[in-house]
Amino acid sequence: MKLKRGIMIHNQLLEGYDIVTINSGSVFHNDRIAADTVDFNGLQYIPQYEEDAYIVKRDWRKLSAVEKKTLQPNNNCNDYNTVYLGDIPDDLKICFKQLALDDSKSRDEVLRKLSYDAQKTKKLSTKLDSFLFNYANKKPYSFHCIGVNPPNIELVACDTTKLPPNFKPSDIRYMGLHNDGTTLMSIYTAHKFGNRISINLSSESRHFIFVNLSMIQAYNMLKKKMSINENDINIANIPQIFFKHFPDYPVLKIKLKPYQYYIAPTDNCFHDGSTLGNKNLDICIIYFGSFQY
Ligand SMILES: [Fe+2]
Repeated sequence: MKLKRGIMIHNQLLEGYDIVTINSGSVFHNDRIAADTVDFNGLQYIPQYEEDAYIVKRDWRKLSAVEKKTLQPNNNCNDYNTVYLGDIPDDLKICFKQLALDDSKSRDEVLRKLSYDAQKTKKLSTKLDSFLFNYANKKPYSFHCIGVNPPNIELVACDTTKLPPNFKPSDIRYMGLHNDGTTLMSIYTAHKFGNRISINLSSESRHFIFVNLSMIQAYNMLKKKMSINENDINIANIPQIFFKHFPDYPVLKIKLKPYQYYIAPTDNCFHDGSTLGNKNLDICIIYFGSFQY
């Protein structure tokens, strides 16, 4: 299926569109046998998915000239129709490097290093704040989390709140391609809740994977394809219904080196992060806001 004009990519990175690849769509997790193993710091398991998860096909290729044009930003970029890519400023990079987070072996170690030297952390926090403020569009923003994932996981998102406190990593069920959001949102309002910035703090590249369709676009495509009762489809079940009916709609994958960031409307598009092929701990810092430029 052809890539449609939808969510755009505003790319400030020198590598340009070389860091974006595209595939031929998605697949139900049980229909693809790929036993990627996590084997890191004494941790060994084969990632398992939630019952109704859809994952990405692996036939990634470079974008064609037409596809690049389809993703190019226009003058109306905003916090719900654009993925922004960039590098954090050098002085902020230095602050992160001084904390040496990137050789950590666990979440605990990352958190320990973040709070170990109050002065360094304060300096970092001031610089991070002025960086974020520049892109915050005069709207409030807030710290969301430090994301830490093992290497070699194709799609990292999971809901561990459903698991017992002493869960084993092998108990985790990854959710596959999904949209974020809460019960406060609907398909028609998911674009009104801002976006997120995620900065790669790992020693390796990590990938942001997404479908360049807004929730309303995905819903309209479904309405044309099938007769649906508006009550049967909602913000929670739309990914499964969409991928079942449009397994051939291409997915995009963006490679982000250490200290590069993405800003994305993750309530308003299907997406996930990936550490497939990596060897070291995956670390990112995430803020919610209405970032744009
Ligand atoms: Fe997400």
